[in-house]
This record gives sequence, structure tokens and C-alpha cells, in this order.
Amino acid sequence: MKPSIVGFACAFAVFLARCSPCAAQGQPVAPAADPAPVTFNKQIAPILFRQCVECHRPGQVAPFSLLTYADAKKRATMIQSVISEHIMPPWKSVEGHGSFVGERRLAAEEIEHIARWVTQGKPEGDRKDLPAPPRFTDGWKLGEPDIVVAMPAAYEVPAEGRDAYRNFVFALEIPKGKFIKAAEFRPSNRRVVHHAQLTVDVTGRSRKQDEADPAPGFDGAGTPPGQLFPGSLATWTPGRDPIPLPDGIAMPWEPGADFVLNLHLHPTGKPEVEQSSVGFYLTDQPPRRSMVDLLLIDFKIDIPPGERSYRTRAELRVPIDVEVVGSFPHMHLIGREFKLTAYPPKGEPFSLLWIDDWDFNWQVYYQYAAPVKLVAGTRVVMESVHDNSADNIHNPNQPPKRVRWGEQTTDEMSLAFLQVMPAREEDFERLGVSERGGTLGVIRAVGRK
Ligand code: HEC
Repeated sequence: MKPSIVGFACAFAVFLARCSPCAAQGQPVAPAADPAPVTFNKQIAPILFRQCVECHRPGQVAPFSLLTYADAKKRATMIQSVISEHIMPPWKSVEGHGSFVGERRLAAEEIEHIARWVTQGKPEGDRKDLPAPPRFTDGWKLGEPDIVVAMPAAYEVPAEGRDAYRNFVFALEIPKGKFIKAAEFRPSNRRVVHHAQLTVDVTGRSRKQDEADPAPGFDGAGTPPGQLFPGSLATWTPGRDPIPLPDGIAMPWEPGADFVLNLHLHPTGKPEVEQSSVGFYLTDQPPRRSMVDLLLIDFKIDIPPGERSYRTRAELRVPIDVEVVGSFPHMHLIGREFKLTAYPPKGEPFSLLWIDDWDFNWQVYYQYAAPVKLVAGTRVVMESVHDNSADNIHNPNQPPKRVRWGEQTTDEMSLAFLQVMPAREEDFERLGVSERGGTLGVIRAVGRK
């Protein structure tokens, strides 16, 4: 038995007890307490416009629109139920466990307004209260990119078979004196792209492999060639928005390096094609801070069929004072819970991230609204739970089968990338030697070698 099991359970109890917003979650809201009227035009439309229609409008990921009174009225009861259960808007981290850029969450008052609106018979209200619907561009979410790289031809994904990992190589020239601040990945066909990883290859090896394969790109494993882009730029997953690198951080580009786009493509049952593009946003502000990606990973995954609560664990210790920029947790279909906890050498542990209802389809990069300080000697512990029972609706095997670590979507993983900046630049060299975390991407502040 792993020693982590006990620690895991108590940590939960501690956090639950301490976190009042979480304790309040899930409790029914009392709609009748305040009888003041709530109308669609006055209170409800602004909530939907701000929190829902980004996805719930024609042509976006959600299956129906919520732009009009008729749309909302028709689904009012379902809306009330998904928001009171915190299923919508989709945001997986538990409130009070880290505060993040782009966090989607309804305020208690908004949930209460919707409940009251439904109880009061869903009145439309006065037309003049209705705000103008938000304007969206269907183009790039971050605006017109400085550089766009697109696959020159569509890649064919067969109807059936194993998942494909395919690497596409591009010569990317970044003008002298410019740095990458953000990158936006756009799939042409969301149905087949399971995720995309952005990497840089300075060795020329990817280019040779590409040339040796007559079809566009070349096959690879889940681990892409080259080095991952830093932080929020590394990975695209369905449902996530592009996030620029935080203040003080930008990505230098080595002249002559290749940009390698690694696509994980998942057959859908019919032949599909994919032709992705990536937009790059540049800045002339060089990085003032250094940033390192640390990896927490547990390869020892072997989950017996029927096991409801299979635990994995990894930890690292930061040897210097750091600031955590963000984290990217990753599991596959039957992952259920994911937790990152900081244990400072003195004082109480605190939560960096807790996802209690993992959904493979809603994986995002969690960039902290403000960097989180960790003092030297702090241990960061990753704990996850996989549910391989038949009751898990996300279990692709019915009846359940033994599941091990692997690259296929139906295999499992448990890992997190953690981006940290040294609190003091002069400590940088000592960060590389963190005890057990492997080092991935590194950005050096300009002027430091
Ligand atoms: C980031 C995109 C996104 C946002 C924001 C979003 N939704 Fe959704 N919604 C979806 C998708 C996609 C589905 C389809 C089911 C799924 O994949 O989870 C969905 C499904 C639903 C459903 C149907 C649930 C079911 O069980 O069939 C309701 C109701 C709903 N959303 C309401 C809302 C409301 C209300 C808001 C705002 C408070 C909202 N959504 C915000 C993407 C979004």
C-alpha cells in the first residue's frame, strides 16, 4: 500500500472543513427568500450573455443557443439544474483551491436569480431592460495574430483504428527583437483533434523524419519531439481558451529552429480530415523573469477492473523560493480526482488545485490570477484518483478491463506540469536540481545565461 493514501484522505477533510465556499456548494439555494421580481430582460440575459453564449450560440461547441428569451425559456429548468450543480459553465477546479485566469464561475447571487426566475414562471420583462447581446468575432480569439502557420494540406484520419499521433514541421521565423507572448491553436475539425502540443526543435531531427515520410508530417508517440512551449502555450485541449504568458515572461525563439505541431487524432467512426493552424502573437518585451516547467508524474498505473478509487502520487521539493505561474493537470477518461497541494516546511499545507469531478473533455491550463509564492523546501504533492468501475459513465470499457499507463486515450495517465519562476533570479541555477521533478521547458530572463 502506498503511504499517500492516508495523507490524501486527511488533506481532503482539512480542506473541506476550512473552505466555506466549498461547504456551501451543492446546498440548495432558497429561491423564495426574496420575492422581488426577476425577469429575463433585466437579470437573466446579462448572466447568459456574460457566462454562457460564448459557447451557447450558433457555430460554437455547445449543442444549443441561449441568445434569446425563447431559447432560455425552453430550457429554463435544465439551466437551473446544471448551474446549481456547477456543471455549467464548465470549470472543473473547486472554488477556494487556487484562483485562475479565465475562471468560469457563477456568483451565488446569479444562481439564486435564475432559480427565482424559474419559480416566478420565467417572465420576459420589459424590452427596454434587455442589454445588447455581446459581439463575437468568429476568428482568432486573441485578435489578428502577428504570424499564422497553417498545415499546407489536410491530413486524413481514417474512420477506425488506433489514435494517431502525428507531427507537422514548420520553419518559423520570428523577427529579431521579438518574442512569443501567446499562441492560439485552431483545429479545422474539433471532432478528431483530441489535443495538440506545440514544440520547438532546434536539432533538425523532426525535419529529417518528416522528409523521410511521404505523407504530410510523420508519426510519433504521445511524447512529442522537441521541447514543449512554456506554460499556457504548450497544449491545446478542447474547451480551453488561449492565455498569454504572464507579466514578465515571453518566449525567445532560436533562429533556424523548427516549430513542430504534435496532434493527437482520435478516429470518430467515419473518415475525417484535419488542417490546423496556429496564430502567434509577438511582443518586443524580452523576458524579465526566468520560468521553468517542472513535471510531476506517476508512471506506476495498473488499475484492476472494478477498482473505484485507484490512487497515484508524485511529489517534488522546490529548493529555492519560487512563484508558481500555473499548472496543467492531465489524466484520461477514467480519472476522477486531481489534487496539487503545497506543504511548506513550516506552517499549514495549502491547496494549489483541486478537481473533484475530472472530465477529460474539459481540460484547461490553470494559470494563477497572481503567481503563488512557495518558500524554499516546500513539497508539492500531486494526488489523483481513477475510477475503473462500471458505474463510471466515462469508462470506455463495459465491463471494465485492466487499464495501464499508456499513450492511447483508453490507457491512463497521471501527471502535471507546474511552471515556476525563481523569486530571485540569482537562485535560478539551484532550481534545476529540484529533487524529483524532471525539468521541461526553460525560459531565461534576458541578460542571464
Ligand atoms: C466553454 C463553453 C460553454 C460555456 C461557457 C457554457 N456551456 Fe453549457 N454546454 C457546453 C457544451 C459543450 C455542452 C454539451 C455537453 C458537454 O459537453 O458538457 C453544454 C451543455 C449545456 C446544457 C445541457 C446539459 C445536459 O445535460 O444536456 C445546459 C442546460 C447548459 N449547457 C447551460 C449552460 C449555461 C446556463 C451556461 C452559462 C451559465 C453555460 N451552459 C455555459 C458548453 C458551454
